[in-house]
Amino acid sequence: MTNQMHPPFSNRTTVVRLPIPHGLRMALPASDKAELALAQVLAGDAVPRLNVDPLAAQLTSTQGHAVLGAPASWTDTQLRWAYAVLLRQLGSLNGRYGKLFDVVDQGLDHTITNAPVSKTKAATGMHTDSSDARYNPDLVGLLCLQPGSRGGESLLASAIEMLERLKQRHPELESVARTPWPRDVVTPGLAQDLAAIEANAIPVFAQDEHGPVFRYMRYWTERAMAKLGQPIPVQLTRLFDFIDADMADNALNFRLKRGDILLVNNRLVVHGRGAFEDAPGAARRCLVRAWVDGFVDSHGERLPLRA
Ligand SMILES: [Fe+2]
Repeated sequence: MTNQMHPPFSNRTTVVRLPIPHGLRMALPASDKAELALAQVLAGDAVPRLNVDPLAAQLTSTQGHAVLGAPASWTDTQLRWAYAVLLRQLGSLNGRYGKLFDVVDQGLDHTITNAPVSKTKAATGMHTDSSDARYNPDLVGLLCLQPGSRGGESLLASAIEMLERLKQRHPELESVARTPWPRDVVTPGLAQDLAAIEANAIPVFAQDEHGPVFRYMRYWTERAMAKLGQPIPVQLTRLFDFIDADMADNALNFRLKRGDILLVNNRLVVHGRGAFEDAPGAARRCLVRAWVDGFVDSHGERLPLRA
């Protein structure tokens, strides 16, 4: 886990941009009607049907991501409405942290508490979302309302391409990557004792009936093993070091601007963000995160939070 303003990631900036569907512009509620329209979308009411076939195809490709630019002139609530309507075309919105979760600096420190990094201003390190072995969102969405003053760049890396390089250069590590390793339990409402942490074991690379699944959270894995008193095997550290170095060389590094909607296939693509600072008096960085279930087949979609 790093906390530096300029992580050593490459300068590749070629993200895949797609136009927002025409039907979204046509159906946009007036600004004074947007609050009610948004509440109705989040409550599960019917939404306008849009052609999202090109978007769905892009999200299932090896690249596994897309950025759609909604007009910056739309109000925050209109942008949230457009975002929610778009996501509803692709699956259902998961409510574990709230269907729309504002990622803003809340002044917390994840290194001394169980606070998620999404409530801090720290660099996140490259990861896939959800530390719960029994739940993995298919898609992660981020709507940019305010990009912030400094830092906060977005990073994306293709796990499929990384796996190919791992097989070529370190084939002996593939079995390590396919072994389940414990991950710290930080989801609110879940039991967080040592037995729960030991049971929360996830392989880095897996394959299910729908294809490959990559789940990577080095920080939470190493913290879990420290809590369990388990030494980290040399081969696991070598795997993590390879993955981190590979992503540093190959990750896309770009900035979102107001109105941008970033969608990521959470099974195929690793994401992260650089550390950021909000300047005094300036608009605070705010990205709205959403998890989409049912685009492929999210594990544990209907699981209640465990006590
Ligand atoms: Fe994330």
